Amino acid sequence: MKTELLTILRETDGYVSGQSLCEKFGVSRTAVWKGIRQLKEAGYEIEAVQNKGYRLVSVPDLLSEYELKSIRKTEWAGQEICCYPVVDSTNTRAQQLAEDGYPDGTLVVAEQQDAGKGRRGRGWESPRGSGIFMTLLLKPGISPANASMLTLVAALAVSAAVTEQTGQPAGIKWPNDIVMNGKKICGILTEMSAQFDYINHVVIGIGINVHNESFPEEISHMATSLFLETKRRFHRAALIESVLERFEHYYAVFQKTEDLGALVREYDARLVNMHQNVRVLDPKEPFDGKAMGITPRGELIVDTWESRRLVSAGEVSVRGVYGYV
Ligand code: BTN
Repeated sequence: MKTELLTILRETDGYVSGQSLCEKFGVSRTAVWKGIRQLKEAGYEIEAVQNKGYRLVSVPDLLSEYELKSIRKTEWAGQEICCYPVVDSTNTRAQQLAEDGYPDGTLVVAEQQDAGKGRRGRGWESPRGSGIFMTLLLKPGISPANASMLTLVAALAVSAAVTEQTGQPAGIKWPNDIVMNGKKICGILTEMSAQFDYINHVVIGIGINVHNESFPEEISHMATSLFLETKRRFHRAALIESVLERFEHYYAVFQKTEDLGALVREYDARLVNMHQNVRVLDPKEPFDGKAMGITPRGELIVDTWESRRLVSAGEVSVRGVYGYV
């Protein structure tokens, strides 16, 4: 009922009469009034005027199932939405849901994670209400060998969504960090459960720093938030919706060939390392070179002046020669 009420209030420019809501849902006036009261209690500002009806004045920055569903425009992404006040990790939760039979496109969102996971076994600080902690569950019919490219597909989606929502460029630091003004605003962690030739499921976890006003000293030189970069507040549900819409688009392109061939140009245009000197932290032998974009398989092309080397994500990390980017 809350999802339907919100959807109608959002779609209506002006007032919706209580009577029309009763007719639409086939419920009593009291039931409508109860639904409106629950929305108000959750922080929605709804004006009620006699003989006119209800009008949505403002919405809270809330990550609830009904908020996300009422703005959903995607085809399959977010067809099931599971929201939690606290979880250990949305990736872990999504993996459990996959085992329980939840479908392709299930979205898991939390206000807080108390065991948020980062790449390379690191943690991901996830304080309550500060950001977006979301995981998209996929059951793709692609070869396990091609699954690592999905992380770059997600990076494209976040880069495009954040750029659109903030009006400021949010580039990609290869392979999948999203950066604004040289600092990281988003990390992506993709995990897979697969057989030799068959994917059971893939979970793509996305953490976006939205409202953070500061970061611990150890990471403040390389971490930032949308608030710190723009001095504005954002509606996290709208940002999630935008990420999902864009993910659907790029994923459809990826699926046609099971590689990034048709996305290389756009990825390179968003790549903050493009034509920059980078240090490839290869555990065997670190080396420096100039980043020249990605291959259709998502490897970073690095010109070392002696040769052209292809760097695979997962094996190494890449830094700017003088810092994070
Ligand atoms: C990185 O190290 O850059 C990746 C960070 C990924 C963090 C996100 S937050 C939502 C999802 N759940 C997790 O436990 N991790 C990812």
